[in-house]
Amino acid sequence: MKRTLLLLACAIATNVYAQKFDGLALTPPMGWNSWNHFACEVNEQIIRETADAMVASGMKDAGYLYINIDDCWHGERDSLGFIHPHPEHFPSGMKALADYVHSKGLKLGIYSDAGWKTCGSRPGSRGREFQDAQTYASWGVDYLKYDWCNTEALNAEGAYLTMRDALYAAGRPIVFSLCEWGNNQPWEWGKKIGHLWRTTGDITNCFDCVVDHGAWKSWGVTYILDMQKPFLRNHAGPDHWNDPDMMEVGNGMSVNEDRAHFSMWCMLAAPLIAGNDLRKMTKETVDILTNREVIAVDQDSLGIQGFKYSAKDSVEIWFKPLAKGDWAMCVLNRSRAPQKISFDWKTEAVADSLSGRDANFATTTYRLRNLWTKKDAGNTKKTLNATVPSHDVLMLRLRKM
Ligand code: GLA
Repeated sequence: MKRTLLLLACAIATNVYAQKFDGLALTPPMGWNSWNHFACEVNEQIIRETADAMVASGMKDAGYLYINIDDCWHGERDSLGFIHPHPEHFPSGMKALADYVHSKGLKLGIYSDAGWKTCGSRPGSRGREFQDAQTYASWGVDYLKYDWCNTEALNAEGAYLTMRDALYAAGRPIVFSLCEWGNNQPWEWGKKIGHLWRTTGDITNCFDCVVDHGAWKSWGVTYILDMQKPFLRNHAGPDHWNDPDMMEVGNGMSVNEDRAHFSMWCMLAAPLIAGNDLRKMTKETVDILTNREVIAVDQDSLGIQGFKYSAKDSVEIWFKPLAKGDWAMCVLNRSRAPQKISFDWKTEAVADSLSGRDANFATTTYRLRNLWTKKDAGNTKKTLNATVPSHDVLMLRLRKM
Protein backbone atom coordinates (compact mmCIF):
# COMPACT_ATOMS: atom_id res chain seq x y z
CA MET A 1 0.00 0.00 0.00
CA LYS A 2 2.78 2.37 1.03
CA ARG A 3 4.68 1.48 -2.16
CA THR A 4 1.60 2.13 -4.31
CA LEU A 5 1.13 5.53 -2.73
CA LEU A 6 4.77 6.37 -3.28
CA LEU A 7 4.54 5.35 -6.93
CA LEU A 8 1.38 7.40 -7.32
CA ALA A 9 3.05 10.43 -5.75
CA CYS A 10 6.00 10.02 -8.10
CA ALA A 11 3.70 9.74 -11.10
CA ILE A 12 1.83 12.88 -10.14
CA ALA A 13 5.07 14.71 -9.47
CA THR A 14 6.46 13.66 -12.86
CA ASN A 15 3.35 14.92 -14.57
CA VAL A 16 3.18 18.18 -12.71
CA TYR A 17 6.80 18.99 -13.33
CA ALA A 18 7.13 17.62 -16.85
CA GLN A 19 7.97 20.35 -19.29
CA LYS A 20 10.18 20.99 -22.26
CA PHE A 21 13.84 21.73 -21.63
CA ASP A 22 13.83 25.51 -21.66
CA GLY A 23 16.52 27.65 -23.21
CA LEU A 24 18.05 25.16 -25.65
CA ALA A 25 17.18 27.19 -28.76
CA LEU A 26 17.18 30.88 -27.87
CA THR A 27 18.19 31.47 -31.49
CA PRO A 28 17.16 29.12 -34.34
CA PRO A 29 19.12 25.83 -34.16
CA MET A 30 22.00 25.47 -36.62
CA GLY A 31 23.40 22.18 -37.85
CA TRP A 32 23.22 19.51 -40.51
CA ASN A 33 20.82 16.65 -41.23
CA SER A 34 21.40 13.54 -43.34
CA TRP A 35 18.03 13.30 -45.07
CA ASN A 36 18.11 15.78 -47.96
CA HIS A 37 21.28 14.35 -49.44
CA PHE A 38 21.62 10.77 -48.16
CA ALA A 39 18.00 9.73 -47.44
CA CYS A 40 18.18 6.10 -46.21
CA GLU A 41 21.81 5.62 -47.26
CA VAL A 42 23.17 6.94 -43.97
CA ASN A 43 25.87 5.25 -41.90
CA GLU A 44 28.34 6.02 -39.14
CA GLN A 45 31.19 6.69 -41.54
CA ILE A 46 29.21 9.48 -43.17
CA ILE A 47 28.30 10.91 -39.77
CA ARG A 48 31.91 10.91 -38.56
CA GLU A 49 33.21 12.44 -41.79
CA THR A 50 30.45 15.03 -41.71
CA ALA A 51 31.44 16.04 -38.18
CA ASP A 52 35.05 16.35 -39.38
CA ALA A 53 33.95 18.42 -42.38
CA MET A 54 31.78 20.69 -40.27
CA VAL A 55 34.87 21.65 -38.31
CA ALA A 56 37.31 21.77 -41.26
CA SER A 57 35.00 23.85 -43.50
CA GLY A 58 34.58 26.58 -40.90
CA MET A 59 30.89 25.80 -40.44
CA LYS A 60 31.35 25.01 -36.76
CA ASP A 61 33.09 28.36 -36.24
CA ALA A 62 30.22 30.05 -38.08
CA GLY A 63 27.75 28.61 -35.54
CA TYR A 64 26.64 25.19 -36.82
CA LEU A 65 26.39 22.76 -33.91
CA TYR A 66 24.13 19.76 -34.53
CA ILE A 67 24.92 16.68 -36.61
CA ASN A 68 21.51 15.11 -37.04
CA ILE A 69 20.90 11.56 -38.24
CA ASP A 70 17.52 11.36 -39.91
CA ASP A 71 15.46 8.28 -40.80
CA CYS A 72 16.83 4.77 -41.39
CA TRP A 73 19.53 4.54 -38.70
CA HIS A 74 17.45 1.87 -37.01
CA GLY A 75 18.01 -1.81 -36.57
CA GLU A 76 15.51 -3.93 -34.63
CA ARG A 77 14.05 -3.76 -31.15
CA ASP A 78 15.39 -6.49 -28.87
CA SER A 79 13.23 -8.88 -26.81
CA LEU A 80 12.84 -6.19 -24.12
CA GLY A 81 11.82 -3.60 -26.66
CA PHE A 82 15.04 -1.57 -26.69
CA ILE A 83 15.86 -0.08 -30.07
CA HIS A 84 19.30 -0.68 -31.57
CA PRO A 85 21.01 0.99 -34.51
CA HIS A 86 21.42 -0.97 -37.71
CA PRO A 87 24.28 -3.38 -36.95
CA GLU A 88 26.00 -3.05 -40.32
CA HIS A 89 25.47 0.66 -40.92
CA PHE A 90 26.28 1.72 -37.35
CA PRO A 91 28.57 -1.08 -36.12
CA SER A 92 30.20 0.99 -33.33
CA GLY A 93 26.82 1.90 -31.85
CA MET A 94 25.30 5.27 -31.10
CA LYS A 95 27.12 5.95 -27.83
CA ALA A 96 30.50 5.73 -29.57
CA LEU A 97 29.23 7.93 -32.39
CA ALA A 98 27.90 10.53 -29.94
CA ASP A 99 31.25 10.47 -28.13
CA TYR A 100 33.02 11.10 -31.43
CA VAL A 101 30.72 13.98 -32.40
CA HIS A 102 31.07 15.47 -28.90
CA SER A 103 34.86 15.19 -29.11
CA LYS A 104 34.66 17.63 -32.04
CA GLY A 105 32.72 20.13 -29.93
CA LEU A 106 29.50 19.29 -31.79
CA LYS A 107 26.20 17.71 -30.75
CA LEU A 108 24.38 14.66 -32.06
CA GLY A 109 20.77 14.51 -33.20
CA ILE A 110 18.60 11.52 -33.95
CA TYR A 111 15.20 10.86 -35.53
CA SER A 112 12.08 8.96 -34.61
CA ASP A 113 8.38 8.99 -35.34
CA ALA A 114 5.25 9.23 -33.19
CA GLY A 115 3.66 6.35 -35.10
CA TRP A 116 4.24 2.59 -35.30
CA LYS A 117 6.74 3.08 -38.06
CA THR A 118 8.83 5.96 -39.37
CA CYS A 119 8.24 7.42 -42.81
CA GLY A 120 10.98 5.04 -44.03
CA SER A 121 9.17 2.07 -42.39
CA ARG A 122 11.66 1.67 -39.54
CA PRO A 123 10.42 1.09 -35.96
CA GLY A 124 8.55 4.15 -34.60
CA SER A 125 8.27 5.19 -30.96
CA ARG A 126 4.53 4.69 -30.45
CA GLY A 127 4.05 2.93 -27.09
CA ARG A 128 7.80 3.05 -26.48
CA GLU A 129 8.23 6.77 -25.90
CA PHE A 130 9.72 6.64 -22.39
CA GLN A 131 11.92 3.68 -23.25
CA ASP A 132 13.24 5.34 -26.42
CA ALA A 133 13.82 8.66 -24.66
CA GLN A 134 15.84 6.85 -21.98
CA THR A 135 17.81 5.09 -24.69
CA TYR A 136 18.60 8.33 -26.58
CA ALA A 137 19.63 10.01 -23.31
CA SER A 138 21.91 7.07 -22.43
CA TRP A 139 23.56 7.36 -25.86
CA GLY A 140 24.25 11.06 -25.33
CA VAL A 141 21.81 12.35 -27.95
CA ASP A 142 21.20 16.13 -27.93
CA TYR A 143 18.43 16.68 -30.50
CA LEU A 144 15.38 14.65 -31.55
CA LYS A 145 13.43 15.18 -34.74
CA TYR A 146 10.07 13.47 -34.28
CA ASP A 147 8.11 12.64 -37.43
CA TRP A 148 4.43 11.97 -38.04
CA CYS A 149 4.04 9.00 -40.41
CA ASN A 150 1.82 6.03 -39.52
CA THR A 151 0.06 7.86 -36.69
CA GLU A 152 -3.52 6.72 -37.39
CA ALA A 153 -5.90 7.66 -34.53
CA LEU A 154 -3.25 9.64 -32.67
CA ASN A 155 -3.81 13.23 -31.59
CA ALA A 156 -0.77 15.28 -32.60
CA GLU A 157 -0.58 17.56 -29.58
CA GLY A 158 -1.01 14.59 -27.24
CA ALA A 159 1.55 12.44 -29.02
CA TYR A 160 4.18 15.18 -29.04
CA LEU A 161 3.39 15.95 -25.39
CA THR A 162 4.03 12.32 -24.48
CA MET A 163 7.46 12.41 -26.10
CA ARG A 164 8.23 15.77 -24.53
CA ASP A 165 7.47 14.32 -21.09
CA ALA A 166 9.49 11.20 -21.89
CA LEU A 167 12.51 13.31 -22.86
CA TYR A 168 12.17 15.39 -19.72
CA ALA A 169 11.89 12.30 -17.55
CA ALA A 170 15.04 10.88 -19.16
CA GLY A 171 16.84 13.91 -17.77
CA ARG A 172 19.16 14.83 -20.64
CA PRO A 173 18.51 18.22 -22.27
CA ILE A 174 17.43 17.42 -25.82
CA VAL A 175 16.21 19.88 -28.45
CA PHE A 176 12.78 18.66 -29.57
CA SER A 177 11.95 19.20 -33.24
CA LEU A 178 8.30 18.57 -34.15
CA CYS A 179 7.80 17.34 -37.68
CA GLU A 180 4.12 16.96 -38.52
CA TRP A 181 4.33 19.26 -41.55
CA GLY A 182 1.96 21.88 -40.12
CA ASN A 183 -1.00 19.51 -40.50
CA ASN A 184 -2.33 20.12 -36.99
CA GLN A 185 -1.43 23.79 -36.50
CA PRO A 186 1.59 23.07 -34.27
CA TRP A 187 2.25 26.81 -33.96
CA GLU A 188 -0.81 26.92 -31.70
CA TRP A 189 0.39 24.32 -29.19
CA GLY A 190 4.03 23.61 -30.02
CA LYS A 191 5.61 26.35 -27.92
CA LYS A 192 5.20 24.47 -24.64
CA ILE A 193 6.25 21.17 -26.24
CA GLY A 194 9.20 21.71 -28.55
CA HIS A 195 11.82 24.14 -29.77
CA LEU A 196 10.80 24.14 -33.45
CA TRP A 197 8.00 22.80 -35.58
CA ARG A 198 7.74 22.15 -39.29
CA THR A 199 5.16 24.46 -40.81
CA THR A 200 4.95 22.70 -44.18
CA GLY A 201 5.71 19.58 -46.22
CA ASP A 202 9.07 18.39 -47.47
CA ILE A 203 11.44 20.59 -49.44
CA THR A 204 13.12 19.40 -52.65
CA ASN A 205 16.30 20.61 -54.35
CA CYS A 206 14.92 23.02 -56.90
CA PHE A 207 14.00 26.68 -56.85
CA ASP A 208 10.47 26.67 -58.19
CA CYS A 209 9.33 23.14 -59.03
CA VAL A 210 7.05 20.57 -57.40
CA VAL A 211 7.87 16.87 -57.31
CA ASP A 212 4.85 14.58 -57.30
CA HIS A 213 5.49 11.32 -55.42
CA GLY A 214 1.93 10.04 -55.89
CA ALA A 215 0.56 10.09 -52.33
CA TRP A 216 2.47 13.27 -51.48
CA LYS A 217 4.47 16.08 -53.03
CA SER A 218 7.75 17.78 -52.18
CA TRP A 219 8.24 21.44 -52.84
CA GLY A 220 10.86 23.75 -54.32
CA VAL A 221 12.10 26.80 -52.43
CA THR A 222 9.55 29.34 -53.70
CA TYR A 223 6.65 26.98 -53.00
CA ILE A 224 7.82 26.44 -49.42
CA LEU A 225 8.30 30.20 -49.09
CA ASP A 226 4.76 30.94 -50.27
CA MET A 227 3.38 28.44 -47.76
CA GLN A 228 4.91 30.40 -44.85
CA LYS A 229 1.74 32.37 -44.20
CA PRO A 230 2.15 35.85 -42.66
CA PHE A 231 0.40 34.96 -39.37
CA LEU A 232 3.00 32.28 -38.61
CA ARG A 233 5.52 34.88 -37.50
CA ASN A 234 3.26 35.79 -34.57
CA HIS A 235 3.98 32.37 -33.09
CA ALA A 236 7.78 32.25 -33.41
CA GLY A 237 10.40 33.54 -31.02
CA PRO A 238 13.30 32.51 -28.81
CA ASP A 239 13.08 28.78 -27.99
CA HIS A 240 10.12 28.14 -30.34
CA TRP A 241 10.65 28.57 -34.07
CA ASN A 242 8.75 27.98 -37.28
CA ASP A 243 10.66 25.43 -39.37
CA PRO A 244 10.20 25.69 -43.16
CA ASP A 245 12.38 22.54 -43.49
CA MET A 246 16.05 21.75 -43.84
CA MET A 247 18.13 23.47 -46.48
CA GLU A 248 19.00 22.36 -50.00
CA VAL A 249 22.03 24.66 -50.36
CA GLY A 250 24.75 22.73 -52.21
CA ASN A 251 22.35 20.08 -53.45
CA GLY A 252 22.20 21.04 -57.12
CA MET A 253 20.58 24.45 -57.46
CA SER A 254 22.54 27.31 -59.03
CA VAL A 255 24.73 29.50 -56.83
CA ASN A 256 22.23 32.37 -57.19
CA GLU A 257 19.37 30.09 -56.14
CA ASP A 258 21.30 28.72 -53.20
CA ARG A 259 22.09 32.27 -52.10
CA ALA A 260 18.44 33.31 -52.41
CA HIS A 261 17.28 30.20 -50.52
CA PHE A 262 19.77 30.76 -47.69
CA SER A 263 18.96 34.48 -47.45
CA MET A 264 15.24 33.84 -47.25
CA TRP A 265 15.64 31.18 -44.56
CA CYS A 266 17.59 33.77 -42.56
CA MET A 267 14.87 36.38 -43.10
CA LEU A 268 12.37 33.80 -41.78
CA ALA A 269 14.48 33.18 -38.63
CA ALA A 270 14.40 29.55 -39.76
CA PRO A 271 16.49 26.79 -38.22
CA LEU A 272 19.62 26.60 -40.40
CA ILE A 273 20.02 22.88 -40.92
CA ALA A 274 22.25 22.17 -43.91
CA GLY A 275 21.22 19.17 -46.01
CA ASN A 276 24.14 18.74 -48.41
CA ASP A 277 27.25 16.55 -48.43
CA LEU A 278 29.62 18.59 -46.27
CA ARG A 279 32.54 16.41 -47.35
CA LYS A 280 32.31 17.60 -50.96
CA MET A 281 31.42 21.27 -50.99
CA THR A 282 32.35 23.84 -53.61
CA LYS A 283 33.85 27.09 -52.41
CA GLU A 284 30.60 28.85 -53.36
CA THR A 285 28.57 26.51 -51.15
CA VAL A 286 30.91 27.04 -48.20
CA ASP A 287 30.80 30.81 -48.74
CA ILE A 288 27.03 30.80 -48.67
CA LEU A 289 26.65 28.55 -45.64
CA THR A 290 29.28 30.43 -43.63
CA ASN A 291 28.41 34.04 -44.46
CA ARG A 292 28.42 35.35 -40.90
CA GLU A 293 26.70 38.63 -41.66
CA VAL A 294 23.77 36.78 -43.22
CA ILE A 295 23.76 34.20 -40.42
CA ALA A 296 23.63 37.09 -37.94
CA VAL A 297 20.28 38.10 -39.45
CA ASP A 298 18.91 34.63 -38.72
CA GLN A 299 20.49 34.42 -35.28
CA ASP A 300 19.55 37.93 -34.19
CA SER A 301 18.81 38.04 -30.47
CA LEU A 302 15.47 39.83 -30.93
CA GLY A 303 14.14 36.60 -32.44
CA ILE A 304 11.55 38.28 -34.67
CA GLN A 305 10.70 36.50 -37.93
CA GLY A 306 10.79 38.72 -41.03
CA PHE A 307 7.82 39.68 -43.18
CA LYS A 308 7.02 40.33 -46.81
CA TYR A 309 6.71 44.09 -47.27
CA SER A 310 5.84 44.18 -50.96
CA ALA A 311 5.53 41.98 -54.03
CA LYS A 312 5.44 43.26 -57.59
CA ASP A 313 6.42 41.68 -60.92
CA SER A 314 8.14 38.69 -59.28
CA VAL A 315 10.17 40.96 -57.02
CA GLU A 316 9.51 40.65 -53.31
CA ILE A 317 10.90 42.94 -50.64
CA TRP A 318 11.20 41.50 -47.15
CA PHE A 319 12.15 43.18 -43.88
CA LYS A 320 13.21 41.76 -40.53
CA PRO A 321 13.59 43.89 -37.40
CA LEU A 322 16.89 43.24 -35.63
CA ALA A 323 18.26 44.05 -32.20
CA LYS A 324 19.54 47.56 -31.43
CA GLY A 325 17.22 49.23 -33.92
CA ASP A 326 18.75 47.57 -37.01
CA TRP A 327 16.78 46.08 -39.88
CA ALA A 328 17.55 43.43 -42.50
CA MET A 329 16.14 43.94 -45.98
CA CYS A 330 16.05 41.31 -48.69
CA VAL A 331 14.99 41.92 -52.29
CA LEU A 332 14.15 38.59 -53.90
CA ASN A 333 13.94 38.27 -57.67
CA ARG A 334 11.82 35.21 -58.45
CA SER A 335 11.70 35.77 -62.20
CA ARG A 336 13.88 34.20 -64.89
CA ALA A 337 15.29 37.58 -65.92
CA PRO A 338 17.27 40.22 -64.02
CA GLN A 339 15.06 42.90 -62.46
CA LYS A 340 15.78 46.57 -61.88
CA ILE A 341 14.56 47.96 -58.59
CA SER A 342 14.25 51.46 -57.27
CA PHE A 343 13.42 52.03 -53.60
CA ASP A 344 12.88 55.60 -52.48
CA TRP A 345 13.21 55.26 -48.73
CA LYS A 346 11.48 58.45 -47.70
CA THR A 347 8.25 57.44 -49.39
CA GLU A 348 8.21 53.92 -47.92
CA ALA A 349 6.48 53.10 -44.62
CA VAL A 350 8.21 50.08 -43.13
CA ALA A 351 6.75 49.25 -39.74
CA ASP A 352 6.01 46.11 -37.79
CA SER A 353 3.25 45.89 -35.21
CA LEU A 354 4.54 42.54 -33.88
CA SER A 355 7.80 44.06 -32.65
CA GLY A 356 6.37 47.57 -32.31
CA ARG A 357 9.06 48.89 -34.63
CA ASP A 358 8.85 51.66 -37.21
CA ALA A 359 11.79 52.34 -39.53
CA ASN A 360 10.80 56.01 -39.94
CA PHE A 361 12.87 56.51 -43.08
CA ALA A 362 11.53 60.05 -43.46
CA THR A 363 13.18 61.15 -40.23
CA THR A 364 15.87 58.53 -39.56
CA THR A 365 18.84 57.79 -41.78
CA TYR A 366 20.37 54.31 -41.89
CA ARG A 367 23.73 53.21 -43.15
CA LEU A 368 23.48 50.33 -45.66
CA ARG A 369 25.65 47.23 -45.75
CA ASN A 370 25.44 44.73 -48.61
CA LEU A 371 25.62 41.36 -46.83
CA TRP A 372 26.69 39.33 -49.88
CA THR A 373 29.34 41.65 -51.33
CA LYS A 374 30.25 42.50 -47.70
CA LYS A 375 30.60 46.15 -48.67
CA ASP A 376 29.05 49.34 -47.36
CA ALA A 377 26.41 50.58 -49.75
CA GLY A 378 25.62 54.19 -48.90
CA ASN A 379 22.66 55.24 -46.82
CA THR A 380 18.92 55.77 -46.91
CA LYS A 381 19.13 59.45 -47.89
CA LYS A 382 19.50 58.38 -51.51
CA THR A 383 17.05 56.21 -53.49
CA LEU A 384 18.28 52.62 -53.72
CA ASN A 385 18.75 51.60 -57.36
CA ALA A 386 19.92 48.10 -58.16
CA THR A 387 19.62 45.22 -60.58
CA VAL A 388 18.94 41.90 -58.96
CA PRO A 389 19.95 38.84 -61.04
CA SER A 390 17.40 36.12 -61.77
CA HIS A 391 16.62 33.83 -58.79
CA ASP A 392 18.89 35.89 -56.58
CA VAL A 393 18.72 38.48 -53.84
CA LEU A 394 20.01 41.83 -52.77
CA MET A 395 20.40 41.62 -49.01
CA LEU A 396 21.15 44.63 -46.86
CA ARG A 397 21.57 45.44 -43.21
CA LEU A 398 20.35 48.87 -42.13
CA ARG A 399 22.00 50.55 -39.16
CA LYS A 400 20.97 53.93 -37.75
CA MET A 401 23.53 56.64 -38.49
C1 GLA B 1 9.38 12.90 -43.60
C2 GLA B 1 10.05 14.17 -43.09
C3 GLA B 1 11.39 14.33 -43.78
C4 GLA B 1 12.26 13.11 -43.49
C5 GLA B 1 11.55 11.85 -43.94
C6 GLA B 1 12.28 10.59 -43.49
O1 GLA B 1 9.04 13.00 -44.94
O2 GLA B 1 9.24 15.28 -43.31
O3 GLA B 1 12.03 15.51 -43.35
O4 GLA B 1 12.54 13.06 -42.12
O5 GLA B 1 10.24 11.78 -43.41
O6 GLA B 1 11.64 9.42 -43.89
